Amino acid sequence: MASFEPILLRNRGVENSTSLEVYASRGGYQAVRKVLQRSPADVIEEVKSANLRGRGGAGFPAGVKWSFLPKDRTRTLLCVNADESEPPTFCNRVLIETDPHQLIEGTIIAAYATQSQVAYVYMRGEFHEQFHILQKAIDEAYAAGYLGKNVFGSEFSVECYVHRGAGAYVCGEETGLIESLEGKRGWPRIKPPFPAVEGLFALPTVVNNVETLSCLPHIIERGADWFTGIGPAHSAGPKLFCVSGPVNKPGCYEGAMDITVRDLIERDDMGGGMMDGKEIRAVFPGGISMGVLTADEINMKLDFDDPRNFGLLGLGTAAAVVVDTDTDLRSVLRNIARFYGTESCGQCTQCREGTSWMNKIATRIAMGAGRVEDLDILLETARNMGMMPGLSICGLPDGATFPIETLVKKFRPELEAAILAQEPGRAEAVLNVLN
Ligand SMILES: Cc1cc2nc3c(=O)[nH]c(=O)nc-3n(C[C@H](O)[C@H](O)[C@H](O)COP(=O)(O)O)c2cc1C
Ligand code: SF4
Repeated sequence: MASFEPILLRNRGVENSTSLEVYASRGGYQAVRKVLQRSPADVIEEVKSANLRGRGGAGFPAGVKWSFLPKDRTRTLLCVNADESEPPTFCNRVLIETDPHQLIEGTIIAAYATQSQVAYVYMRGEFHEQFHILQKAIDEAYAAGYLGKNVFGSEFSVECYVHRGAGAYVCGEETGLIESLEGKRGWPRIKPPFPAVEGLFALPTVVNNVETLSCLPHIIERGADWFTGIGPAHSAGPKLFCVSGPVNKPGCYEGAMDITVRDLIERDDMGGGMMDGKEIRAVFPGGISMGVLTADEINMKLDFDDPRNFGLLGLGTAAAVVVDTDTDLRSVLRNIARFYGTESCGQCTQCREGTSWMNKIATRIAMGAGRVEDLDILLETARNMGMMPGLSICGLPDGATFPIETLVKKFRPELEAAILAQEPGRAEAVLNVLN
């Protein structure tokens, strides 16, 4: 397969790529100049025609989201979601640390289209270096007159601030993010009202992911038709994919959404194959929250639709983590359950108790004290929490149940065999200690 000409990562490897001077010398900040000559409604139409679907996980079309803003609003706020807390995911980090001005240009374009007066970048607390890189770029943009009052000498003004999170996964959920930005606990809100109607500081608010916004300068520069020509029609445009685990070249790669999980793992210009002759046992292809594939399912396409054909929640963050045949699936199960058990914010009973039970059950299985019926209890718990059955405020428990449910269903024989091979009497001994 021919290698992909990078679009979002075109400045990766270029010396001093984070500076305004280098970004501008490579065609940067031309798109925003063009946008300011057009009406906001016209820009929204262009983004709708490009079918730019959100890269933050849900795949909702950006232009459609923007058109939900009330027509009679007087103030609008934009939130840039740079929380990126989904395990094995680091696309946003790579974009920020290699090309912060691309994100700033995309942010100005989105702010103009939505007529937002302020853009808040909500950044994952652990991104220390990336925070300084982005802040420096924002300072440069202000000094050049690209941010602040009268952007590029136009009538349009927008302020931009970076707010650093304190390390909670749930603050990536858009209303948890909004609460946290308001200085409160990052507890997701009941919807409706949706942020477009009543969001940050009770004002109409748009929340978009870093990668979604980074696509905007290219859509404006090269047009919606060019964008929809990349990859399948329902999953248009360039996409960043991450791959980690025992592959030769773990990293972040760019391509169209016509590649498969196998391509991402095996292609020389991507993961480069499994290291040291290891064999694939399982792959979590969309961050862990979307669920797991068996080694026989890795021909799944990394687009917005195909993951559902394999019982997954969706494309998610398109960050794949590979598990090899030497890894004990019980420890994988436990790692996942522990993550959600500690990240539930605790507002909803089913999520708070369910993730905690799943963590306890998965822990005892991993300690060699599991019972075969524990697998059924895990499945039953998973069926009784989440937004899908309408039992929670946010999607965190859906993200908790898909990996556990798919792992138990697709790898039941292996898990059962491991449980049955446990040291006799260990279950009782461990349960005595745990109780
Ligand atoms: C538990 C949870 C965590 C999330 N974390 C993130 C995140 O770290 N970054 C992100 O962009 N979206 C995250 N999302 C999705 C956001 O709620 C929202 O859909 C997204 O920021 C919208 O941007 P987009 O339309 O550009 O994708 C998360 C959702 C849930 C339920
Ligand atoms: S579903 Fe879970 S994480 Fe989301 S608001 Fe409820 S308790 Fe918090």
